[in-house]
Amino acid sequence: MQEALEQLKSSAVCLIEKASGIDEIENLRVKYLGKKGELTTVLKELGKMPADVRPVMGQLANTIKNQLTELMDGKKSEIETKKLEDEIINQSLDITLPGKAPSPGRIHPITQILGEIRDIFTGLGFEVVDGPEVETEYNNFEALNIPADHPSREMWDSFYFRKGLLLRSHTSPVQVRVMKDRKPPIKIIVPGKTYRRDTVDATHHWMFHQVEGLLVDEKVTFADLKGVLLKFARQMFGETRKISFKPSYFPFTEPSAEMSIDCFVCNGEGCRVCKQSGWIEILGSGMVHPNVLRSAGYDPEKYTGFAFGMGPDRIAMLKYGINDIRLFSDNDLRFLEQF
Ligand code: DAH
Repeated sequence: MQEALEQLKSSAVCLIEKASGIDEIENLRVKYLGKKGELTTVLKELGKMPADVRPVMGQLANTIKNQLTELMDGKKSEIETKKLEDEIINQSLDITLPGKAPSPGRIHPITQILGEIRDIFTGLGFEVVDGPEVETEYNNFEALNIPADHPSREMWDSFYFRKGLLLRSHTSPVQVRVMKDRKPPIKIIVPGKTYRRDTVDATHHWMFHQVEGLLVDEKVTFADLKGVLLKFARQMFGETRKISFKPSYFPFTEPSAEMSIDCFVCNGEGCRVCKQSGWIEILGSGMVHPNVLRSAGYDPEKYTGFAFGMGPDRIAMLKYGINDIRLFSDNDLRFLEQF
């Protein structure tokens, strides 16, 4: 057996030395050391040998295996170096050219809008707060003055988990969480993802974003709401913006109002973006409903507050002239690279 091993070794060494391509080396690796390779086949005979020579032969075979592996690896890198040298000599590879810099990527348009909104409100002294996307039915509805059998629940229909849990259909439940956790004054915004069982089309998606705002303290009035939101509108959409409120309905505010700005594209003249009306609806708002204050354990005779909610997806669409909400989540670089 020893002779067979030595012979195998010398023929392998000879072939490795003659090899001139990486493929050749890899073929030799299979031929000798592979599962059905020659060395492996010899080793299988080992079992039939007398017990006293078995360890010696085993050791010899292992040494040969290591030697061959080392030789093959050495030869392989020799061939690679030679190839590189040839390329350099033939000028097909110019190592003096600068390398390709990796592209740093971009900030998603929605994230950019969220950043702008955040900067404006933190500039006004608001704190940014997070809430969970999986919410209790109680926080998403009841605590916001939307009882189980109330028809307005349909406006916020969502995806349900086991009983009592759902994907939040707005960021408003974070109002309740924060009020329960803290004492006034409360001055927060809550950016985040929200979910609804909407049929997907150019302006609807089952996932979108919202930024909630809440300010609760003693003696807060509608005038405070107007002042803060005017400031926001002008910083976000231009210093000459006008705002207008029209009565609306939200179960968690009373009174409730939709706020519009005069169109920042045509300055109120009427165009495609504002659908010729001169105005663009930007957010919902109102004075926090006494029942909401009560469900957080606050005395509505002592504390009042205002709240608002806006959709950054819609704002981004208006601001950048994007006509399909699905583009935000399609992950198409041709779209994303424009921002
Ligand atoms: N949660 C509302 C929605 O999803 C938006 C909203 C309206 C939030 C008025 C508010 C508010 O805090 O006061 O449609």
